[in-house]
Amino acid sequence: MISWKNFRKEPVRRRRKSVSSDSPNDEKRTDFSFTGFDESLLDLSEVMIEQAIGYVGIPLGLAGPFIVDGREISIPMATEEPSVVAAASFAGRLLSKHGGIITQSTEPVMTAQVFLEGNLDLSSVKKVLDSRSDIKRHLQSTLESMESRGGGWRGINARWIAPSKTLAVSIQIDVRDSMGANLLNSVAEKVRPLLERITGGEVLMAVLSNRSLDRTASARFSISACALGNAGLNGKETANRIVRAARVAREDPDRAITHNKGIMNGIIALALATGNDTRAIEAAAHSYAARYGLYNGLSQYWIEGDMLHGVLELPLPFAVTGGAVGFHPASRWCLKQLGNPDGPGLSRIAAALGLAQNLAALRALVCEGIQKGHMSFHARRLAYNAGARDSYIPAFSAVIRSENIRSREAATERFATWNKEMNAETG
Ligand code: MEV
Repeated sequence: MISWKNFRKEPVRRRRKSVSSDSPNDEKRTDFSFTGFDESLLDLSEVMIEQAIGYVGIPLGLAGPFIVDGREISIPMATEEPSVVAAASFAGRLLSKHGGIITQSTEPVMTAQVFLEGNLDLSSVKKVLDSRSDIKRHLQSTLESMESRGGGWRGINARWIAPSKTLAVSIQIDVRDSMGANLLNSVAEKVRPLLERITGGEVLMAVLSNRSLDRTASARFSISACALGNAGLNGKETANRIVRAARVAREDPDRAITHNKGIMNGIIALALATGNDTRAIEAAAHSYAARYGLYNGLSQYWIEGDMLHGVLELPLPFAVTGGAVGFHPASRWCLKQLGNPDGPGLSRIAAALGLAQNLAALRALVCEGIQKGHMSFHARRLAYNAGARDSYIPAFSAVIRSENIRSREAATERFATWNKEMNAETG
């Protein structure tokens, strides 16, 4: 049994020892070779979360080439899902030959919320709005550093939530290159007592809103429909089918969620690679998809003349500093690889990647389907399971495909003879 008494306070290496010596003779004994032995990553894990016992290695791929706003970039993507990096790269390459992707973003404004209850009514809204200068002044010291970086106070609003008789006060802050959660939560907590004094109510809770409606980025492209031909379909027909598929995602919520999941395949892989808050980004995206009541596909496509146009817009609260961003060495490397963009710049790259990912998925879905690409991945996995490593993985998966080997047992048996032949040749 793990001794929980000191577990939290113990250093990571001692914690690992206490877990692995849990039941030394038990064959289910924890094997820490799967949770990493890199000493510096162990120390890093210790300072990033509580009760760390190791770290998990997710593959990091580099997708590209992409032309985004006239600049060629390659995009780091951390994902456990096969075909995602390949699909993004396919669409990136295709669009790069046709002018690339153009992006835009809003200022990075986030909202802090304070909820008050008690002896309140609709008139409390006016009390708060009439006190906006006092509230702004009260937050000056908390916002000083952000103001010096060009961000800070952007406004205040109040709403009466009639069913629960709650007053919701929201304060908008421009958070520049950070995600903003820490600052927004500090703002929300700092202003609590003042709002109680102003309204005579009592604060129920104070925290940022992850909705991020004022922090959007968009991406668009225009491509000659002829360039989209695939699997026996000509380009125009493929483009038409893509438009119809995206329309279905705007009308059928069951399809919309899968459509958007595909978009998030790209965006979340970039978020993870750069150490960003994947849950905040995911939550904001899905709330945006449902902003009109019905859950909608996030992208739109249309045809004008011979051109297919695609556009994607969503909240993208990406940061380039704060938390794990710029702290974790992988995050630092990925940001450098992207040319060290600012926060909105990284959000725009994410929008471009999401749109490219969506185009690749739709094109595959309306043509040959998405399973074809999975077969070569399956062969690579069989090769790995059979014992192939390093350059033997692609070499032996070619054997698996050409000999149509399907089971792990058959692959293992074949690998034994193939490996012998290869060693004899090279030895
Ligand atoms: C798979 O991870 C993502 C797709 O299902 C997205 C979509 O259906 O649009 C291919």
